[in-house]
Amino acid sequence: MFLKDRKIVVTGGPTREWLDPVRFLSNPSTGKMGVAIAEEGLRRGKEVVFIHGPMDDRLLEGKKFTTRDVESTSDMLAAVLDELADGAVLVMSAAPADYTAAKVSDEKIKKQGDEMTLTLKRTPDILKNVAEKRDAGELKDLFVVGFAAETTNVEEYALGKLKEKNLEMICLNDVSRKGAGFGTETNIIIIYNNDGNSIKLPMLSKRDVAEKIFDRIEEQL
Ligand code: CTP
Repeated sequence: MFLKDRKIVVTGGPTREWLDPVRFLSNPSTGKMGVAIAEEGLRRGKEVVFIHGPMDDRLLEGKKFTTRDVESTSDMLAAVLDELADGAVLVMSAAPADYTAAKVSDEKIKKQGDEMTLTLKRTPDILKNVAEKRDAGELKDLFVVGFAAETTNVEEYALGKLKEKNLEMICLNDVSRKGAGFGTETNIIIIYNNDGNSIKLPMLSKRDVAEKIFDRIEEQL
């Protein structure tokens, strides 16, 4: 099945985990990489659904792909599982929050003393949930691309995630490098495939990075 016949599901931006009515846990992801991937996906695939966390709506103005906005990591998981179908391509460029409050407070948490301890619990790992479904024989002929945002032991961690999350491809993003962090207009990535091949890209605009990612996906399909 060629890319032009496939549904493409792209995730982007951060997710948000509320602690109380006035505070949340999140991260500085803007969703720009995800938007660039969704746009390129629309040029090449059958249809694109972009599932995104809270982000600047102006980045989505005039875009032709379908959007679904979600808030928490659990919401994003539900939307991803809802959109995925046999033969789909999933590109997980979102930065979902890994922890959420063990108990969300209905009332504003008042400050007490100089230190405070928050009890957090893990959010679901979206890619691992997708991998479990595939192991169970669901979601046939999927092609899954993950991202790895790293600052240390970058290659080791990225290759670990490629294997653990049962991905076809992972894009390593060394977020400590200038021109590769959150919110930048450019990105510097290395793409690893599960067949052991990799390609190192120079600093490129996010649009050009998205093109290279899809070139690589098309080669592999
Ligand atoms: N991801 C996911 N579900 C989560 C967290 C991350 O599916 N709850 C996906 C991201 O979208 C990305 C990949 O997993 O495609 C790796 O994300 P990253 O934040 O680099 O790693 P984590 O798996 O969260 O591991 P760690 O934070 O320990 O590096």
